[in-house]
Amino acid sequence: MVKSQESPVKIEHAGLNEHTQKMLQQLKIVTVIGSGTMGNGICHVFAQSGFDVHMMDINQTALDKAIGTIEKNMDRQVAKSALTDDQKKKALSRISTYTDMAEAVKDADIVIEAATENIDLKVKIFQQLDKLCPERTILASNTSSISITRIGSFTGRPGKVIGMHFMNPVPVMKLVEIINGYATDKEVTNLIHALSEYLGKVPCIVNDYPGFISNRILLPMINEAILALQEGVAGVEEIDTIMKLGMAHPMGPLQLADFIGLDTCYSIMNVLHMGFGAQKYAPATLLGNMVQAGYLGVKSGEGFYKYTPGSKDLVVAERFQNKSWKI
Ligand code: CAA
Repeated sequence: MVKSQESPVKIEHAGLNEHTQKMLQQLKIVTVIGSGTMGNGICHVFAQSGFDVHMMDINQTALDKAIGTIEKNMDRQVAKSALTDDQKKKALSRISTYTDMAEAVKDADIVIEAATENIDLKVKIFQQLDKLCPERTILASNTSSISITRIGSFTGRPGKVIGMHFMNPVPVMKLVEIINGYATDKEVTNLIHALSEYLGKVPCIVNDYPGFISNRILLPMINEAILALQEGVAGVEEIDTIMKLGMAHPMGPLQLADFIGLDTCYSIMNVLHMGFGAQKYAPATLLGNMVQAGYLGVKSGEGFYKYTPGSKDLVVAERFQNKSWKI
């Protein structure tokens, strides 16, 4: 493994005060908690930008699978000449894997939590991180909807807790939605903003309200598509084609729901429903049923579409092939 002695950040960042500039240049080790789709994508971009990355998960099999995914995704970049083979090798060598949280975070300058979207789990992780990390460490969450203020309140350092919400696929999507908790220090927000730019992303700062901006707007659209399907207004293909060709979305809302994971969509809708107390955010019954039955989209092999490993064909799941289908 290539262990750098110093931060990869050498640039003088325009508009930063001297203190934030210094903080940015001290960032060297990034620990990512969780090696699933978002976690491995986050590790990918940090390693490619020259940081030492500690990828932590509860089992080694998941970590090995994540390294394989990162390598495969870097190969796509090499094939497109977006990365040289040498840069790929160096980036991969900067990632080390851990199953022990204490080891993974003991030198971390920043930790990014990318575990399952579950409040109890995130609170538990942040309580552990608060105990195990050096005092200087910034604790960021990649949560897609859970309150940063709430997560921060379970730590002794709420000023250093912030949302750093990447989009899937992380190496491709430009946005980082930065979420200011009620207690987040302004200096920490400025630092995460500058760090996101350093990673080649475009950061947008928002305040801590249920679903923030991205999922407050995206998820009700997806839920509405599921309600329209549930009511038999149109079939899966028609709904997705209308949104793809009519609104120039790269994926239709039902395909996107499969891509995000129906369990994640369901938990985000529940956060919106509970957080705002408004009926308009109630998750579609069909969404709840599919989650209960284990039809979670790409990750389980079936959602609104059926996924066959190695195939790029988009095939509507059999139960939705009958156009007059209703629940
Ligand atoms: N790593 C690296 N590169 C990748 C990649 C990955 N994981 N996935 C795709 N790519 C690259 C491909 O190599 C390709 O590169 P070039 O443009 O240089 O050729 C490019 O991305 C496009 O990929 P494909 O040709 O395979 O397929 P596509 O054109 O259908 O694009 C897509 C795939 C980028 C995923 C596109 O369909 C898309 O933008 N979909 C919508 C994604 C979206 O909305 N994401 C947000 C989800 S919501 C979220 O993440 C937040 C939340 O909280 C729920």
